[in-house]
Amino acid sequence: MCGIIGATGGEDVLDVLLDGLARLEYRGYDSAGVALELPRPANATSGPADGVPLWRARAASGTTSLDELRKVAHVAPKGALAGIGHTRWATHGRPSEANAHPHLDCTATVAVVHNGIVENCRELAEELIASGHELASETDTEVVAHLIEGELRRSSEPALDRTSQVGEEGRLAGAMRAVIGRLRGSFALAAIWAGEPGTIVAARRVSPLVIGAADSAVAGGSSQVLLASDIPAILGRARRFLLVEDDQVAELRPGSVAVTTVDGMPVDPPELRVDWDLDAALKGGFEDFMSKELHEQPRALADTLLGRVLPAGTLALDEVRISDDELREVDKVFVVACGSSYHAGLVAKYAIEHWARLPVEIDIASEFRYRDPVLDHRTLVVGVSQSGETLDTIQAVRAARQCGAKVLAVSNVVDSSMARQADGVLYTRAGPEVGVASTKTYLAQLAALDILALYLAQLRGILYPHEVRRLLDDLGEMPSLVEEVLGRSGDVLAVARSQRNTRDFFFLGRHVGYPVALEGALKAKELAYVRAEAYPAGELKHGPIALIEPGTVVVGVATRTRLWEKMMANIAEVRSRGATVVLVANDGDEEAGAMADSVLWVPAANPLLAPLVDVVPLQLFAYHLARLSGYDVDRPRNLAKTVTVE
Ligand code: F6R
Repeated sequence: MCGIIGATGGEDVLDVLLDGLARLEYRGYDSAGVALELPRPANATSGPADGVPLWRARAASGTTSLDELRKVAHVAPKGALAGIGHTRWATHGRPSEANAHPHLDCTATVAVVHNGIVENCRELAEELIASGHELASETDTEVVAHLIEGELRRSSEPALDRTSQVGEEGRLAGAMRAVIGRLRGSFALAAIWAGEPGTIVAARRVSPLVIGAADSAVAGGSSQVLLASDIPAILGRARRFLLVEDDQVAELRPGSVAVTTVDGMPVDPPELRVDWDLDAALKGGFEDFMSKELHEQPRALADTLLGRVLPAGTLALDEVRISDDELREVDKVFVVACGSSYHAGLVAKYAIEHWARLPVEIDIASEFRYRDPVLDHRTLVVGVSQSGETLDTIQAVRAARQCGAKVLAVSNVVDSSMARQADGVLYTRAGPEVGVASTKTYLAQLAALDILALYLAQLRGILYPHEVRRLLDDLGEMPSLVEEVLGRSGDVLAVARSQRNTRDFFFLGRHVGYPVALEGALKAKELAYVRAEAYPAGELKHGPIALIEPGTVVVGVATRTRLWEKMMANIAEVRSRGATVVLVANDGDEEAGAMADSVLWVPAANPLLAPLVDVVPLQLFAYHLARLSGYDVDRPRNLAKTVTVE
């Protein structure tokens, strides 16, 4: 999740870019950069050949990237006509200045910024290199700058039925239209070209993009026109906002915006009414970051799945630097993690054992290295950590490597300490998470681990290709199922209201519902400060059932997964002792409904993938409980986002 911004017209292009980047930093801060289009020298003739080179500055120093960029930008030539900027959350290529956007073409007259993932970047890069282009970064974005360069060159070649060269205006948009037709994946792109001064061309598919303008600009006046990944980045400067739809191309010039389809047909972009103040806008119109991030979960899932499936329907994990032969040799998997990441690992145990038929042990990272685990070169240790900086998990994977095991890191942060120490990395692509309690990064971990399980199953020949494909299709449905549950937040709030004075909860689940219960209980503890114990429901009768008395609140994960009937029997046991029962159940399941005082309904999903959906009402439940008590959901007491001490 990166942030892009652009501005054309006005006296303060560079300031607009730098201010906007500060507001977009929540989308990533691995690096920051700008490219400016400068006025032509007075003696220059028209034509791209005389286009002055662009001025570009970039910095890649983590959280201080933007400060560093400001220092460099201090010496930027004045009077820029237009400019684009970028703040990066690395996905392809490590965080470094070379990989920082904007990226340039070979002639340094085209600059491009990008949010999203170009899935077919490798084949495009090979093609470009074969035709003489020199690529300077490891990013998926740079190919776009070179492809635009190629299209611009093609459009300048005199056609047989033309005696004069085509005019410059519209050529960059034409090139962009041709290029996006060749891209697979998601993108919000913005490009400038020294041959078409004052013009920014933008395009999008899936990734967000908004255009902003003062009233007069949209009506054809002469004001500044802006673009950004989100409204807050340009709020206060723009009064009117236009939305660009998938596969549309927008041409921004001072005082005008023209949008076309990929075929060049003009379209009227819909206008968006915005009456937020800046604070609300930074949270995307939500009350807090947690709520915003809960609603980003479908996107986080979709991005994590993107590009992992080859056109033939098989899986490819390109970031995993462990060979397929080495993975085929693996005879045992250990998952090590802490907190929510540990709960994601517990779900993965079911998936890997069932699909790939490999034995899996799961360990809390802080315990793992002190218990002398038996590991060798055929053991795969999977360290799961959204931050990649949790000391307990880093130490655990380090110890595993010393024993000769292969280590795979599942991390949300490119080049995190854990990623650097591992033999391979599988990145989740949830973007930065501000709320201290994990939400979207947890869901993205579940998806990444499911992909790993399917990959192992494919490599070991345990599942037939058509079975892998069917499961991938099921996985592909998860973002929309999660979206559906998020739309029911009001129903969850009503249940939370009925429990607002409860201080003790039991969370129960079986099979994959057990880790979901654990995660639901952790969310309730850390956000709403209630006692919430999670148990495998079948274990209740071996002791904890002594605590059930009239009025005890039991939250059960009772969707139709493998042990549904046994789960219902356990619910009957607590009901008969007077417990108040809240169930997570599948839409239309009247039998489950009849056993509950309240139901959190969710759509049915593939049983092994159901945790991705079933956990969402429990996240919402904890969120609403906390807010009903007036607690700060973004910064729960006593907690840190990243725990870098033992
Ligand atoms: C709970 C939560 C923590 C983290 C844990 C591990 O909401 O956020 O339990 O899951 O501290 O953090 P990472 O994944 O960064 O290693």
